[in-house]
Amino acid sequence: MSEHETSSESLGEPTRRDFLYLATGMAGVVGAAAAAWPFIDQMRPDASTLALASIEVDVSSLEPGMSLTVKWRGKPVFVRNRTDKEVEEANAVALADLKDPIARNANLPADAGATDIDRSAGEGKENWIVMIGSCTHLGCVPLGQAGDFGGWFCPCHGSHYDTAGRIRKGPAPENLAVPTFAFVSDNVIKIG
Ligand code: FES
Repeated sequence: MSEHETSSESLGEPTRRDFLYLATGMAGVVGAAAAAWPFIDQMRPDASTLALASIEVDVSSLEPGMSLTVKWRGKPVFVRNRTDKEVEEANAVALADLKDPIARNANLPADAGATDIDRSAGEGKENWIVMIGSCTHLGCVPLGQAGDFGGWFCPCHGSHYDTAGRIRKGPAPENLAVPTFAFVSDNVIKIG
């Protein structure tokens, strides 16, 4: 460091480095103001916001092995029509082998176990799985039909979920959350 730089810092004059810190600080203030706006706006929801409280999804085009992602309350929701093999694989796993043995299914009691049937749409619809597509580690969106267990893989820090959306490997602490949903007809799922 030159003599000139040392003296300018000791006099309290802003150096280039200080200027960069100041500029970053300003950006932070603008960001905080922008983030506060949605919270204020939520206090008086208009009709379109209320309409998004629940959505209906037509799943008639989803053959076994296919999935789609819909947006619900600003979050991605995965809907997957699992193959018989995928259901069998998930069924074969003992609860004791799961990192998170809780179903995390909003349609069931909070202490329901993470059996395959209790992660799915239930009796007669066990091939269907509906989950919020937000990794339980830090919220990245996992990739479908991927990972060591053929379910979902989160590339952010390497979390592997099985075909029932249960965390099997990596830093995520919980199974992917199942939102409130129900089949309102053979081919239509209502989420929310
Ligand atoms: S956010 Fe998914 S592994 Fe970290």
